[in-house]
Amino acid sequence: MSEYVLDHHLEGEGRRLALMSRLLDPMHRRHLGELGIGPGGKALEVGCGNGSIAAWLAAQVAPGGSVVGVDLDLSLIATRAPDLEFRQGDILAGPVDPGGFDLVTARAVLHHLADPELAIANLVASLARGGAILLIEPDFLPVSVAGPPPIREFWDGWLAWAGDQGIDYHVGRSLAPRLAALGLEQIEGTAETAVYNGGSRWAEYWTETVAELRGPLVGSGHFDDGLIDAFLAHCADPGWWTETISFTAVRARKS
Ligand SMILES: C[S@@+](CC[C@H](N)C(=O)[O-])C[C@H]1O[C@@H](n2cnc3c(N)ncnc32)[C@H](O)[C@@H]1O
Repeated sequence: MSEYVLDHHLEGEGRRLALMSRLLDPMHRRHLGELGIGPGGKALEVGCGNGSIAAWLAAQVAPGGSVVGVDLDLSLIATRAPDLEFRQGDILAGPVDPGGFDLVTARAVLHHLADPELAIANLVASLARGGAILLIEPDFLPVSVAGPPPIREFWDGWLAWAGDQGIDYHVGRSLAPRLAALGLEQIEGTAETAVYNGGSRWAEYWTETVAELRGPLVGSGHFDDGLIDAFLAHCADPGWWTETISFTAVRARKS
């Protein structure tokens, strides 16, 4: 069974997933809407977290359609709907209902996985011929120019810590070539980056995450308490504006 570093039993994970839904669902829904899933469709979301996107998809495919949401851990599912089934499962273990879905999507999942290539192959194998896949993953490219210097230093430490955990925060750029290597067609994508300041929802997300992980971060040797305090102080300062993640959304079709 795969391991997930920010697991659902960390105290703040439910709040963080709710914040992610507020921050990222509008973008995810926009991309899904452009793919044109409608009544009668069959959709799969893998790594569905609290289930907010799976529930939205269920409303789009009604009447007559169905949605499956899969996650390693279903304990934070905050929603139920008709024709929406949640399954506990590991995408590294194999495809879900092979060839069974018109639409397959996953957001912010692949960067945590030991074998993203295998996961993408299993997602593609879950897709029916003519179906569409939408992957949305982070790429931390913007932090390479973040400022002031302590912030840059903080992100260098964060990326080093993440590397130790097997997290690939640059996986976004690999999505299109990986889908192309699997023979998918009509591949296109965009990457978008939130511009945020201290006190905003994104700053709140980072404040909560870093506060909760403070012990392991300092223990890793990539940070000291002063660096973490400097980062948290910026996150509380409305005069500090920054950019962190380029969310890379790539869609493709299976012929
Ligand atoms: C960062 S959260 C993202 C949740 C949601 N997709 C979102 O963007 O708000 C990653 C989710 O993927 C799930 N996950 C991690 N590894 C997985 C795997 N191998 N198979 C299925 N789900 C997995 C985690 O349990 C967690 O719910």
